[in-house]
Amino acid sequence: PSPSAVINLDEIEDIAKKVLTTTAWAYYRSTADDENTYYENSAAYKRFWFRPRVMNKISQVSTSTTLFGLPSSLPIYISPTALMRLGHPDGEMNATRAAGQEGILQGISNNASCSTEECMAVKRPEQHLIFQLYLNKDRAASEALIRNIESQGFKAIMLTVDAAVPGKRELDQRTKGGDLKDMPAAFGKSNTGGGLGVSHAISGYQDPDVCWDDVPWLKSRTKLPIIIKGIQCVEDAERAFESGVQAIVLSNHGGRELDFSPAPMTVLYELHQRRPDLIQKHEVYIDGGVRRGTDVLKALCLGARGVGLGRPFLYANGVWGEEGCRRVVQILREEIITGMQLMGVTSLDQLRPELVQYVDRDPP
Ligand code: FNR
Repeated sequence: PSPSAVINLDEIEDIAKKVLTTTAWAYYRSTADDENTYYENSAAYKRFWFRPRVMNKISQVSTSTTLFGLPSSLPIYISPTALMRLGHPDGEMNATRAAGQEGILQGISNNASCSTEECMAVKRPEQHLIFQLYLNKDRAASEALIRNIESQGFKAIMLTVDAAVPGKRELDQRTKGGDLKDMPAAFGKSNTGGGLGVSHAISGYQDPDVCWDDVPWLKSRTKLPIIIKGIQCVEDAERAFESGVQAIVLSNHGGRELDFSPAPMTVLYELHQRRPDLIQKHEVYIDGGVRRGTDVLKALCLGARGVGLGRPFLYANGVWGEEGCRRVVQILREEIITGMQLMGVTSLDQLRPELVQYVDRDPP
């Protein structure tokens, strides 16, 4: 089908499963152990129901906002994911072009298969990009990388901290990195990972000993805003803001790291209950399992500033390239607008905790 024929994100996943190469599908879809966290990421959203308000004038709706201090047409962004070229020869550049056309932000992974220069070259003049960093065991290499991405004009650094070591991703492990060796030349970091799959093949440089002391180090090396991605409990959210970072992302890496890590939506709810002051004062983002406009709206009601999506863009890129990435945004845009209208709000700042309730039973 054409991108315009699909009307929700689950359909895109179904098509991707049929169309992607075995290696691409296995790497993209792969999750840790028995996939409890992967499924819980989405299921957690189903435990929140709306308390909609009616009889408000809702014909004029605005979804625009600022994320990470940068303008965005929607409260969503493309979360950094490795190896988009496994799905399509233009890889991350497709997502960059789509983000530019739709007016949203994109995080470029430290393990992207297009170079940062390639992505910068296809972005629009007014478009901003964020760089996702893994600290290298060799800090001098990290420092050189930071200088490079600063000079190219990246607007923020997202430091990912939930992947100290690769999770046990069995689907990926079984395909053993398959056709990774055929990846385009821009990606030169890897072999086939000693038969442990793509994840192991690309992550060898990452430092498992990254710790809180590295935050002041990073701050001393860059003036760019720092976002910590991969916070999974209230205590670490507190710790992160004490360390002076600009924002945090509640994330468990899309269920790819520690199975039985809680759903980010559950962590957000706990943060909302225990430390509403932190959410008031700082920017908190969330990613993992977001597949509907209503998921986005629920997270915003509980105080999230914005929501990241990973796999939907990987799948759509693998099936249709740039047009697929745009379609993901368009579907969410329509769902977010309709959801807002039916909740009785016309701008994102009207989303508030009273518009959702936690329902402690299994979804229908
Ligand atoms: C990721 N993610 C990720 N995160 C990151 O900081 N750096 C990276 O290189 C990657 N690579 C990556 C590859 C693949 C194949 C996936 C699926 C995910 C995690 C990503 O940014 C995000 O946290 C999750 O994808 C969110 O979950 P959903 O939207 O995929 O359910």
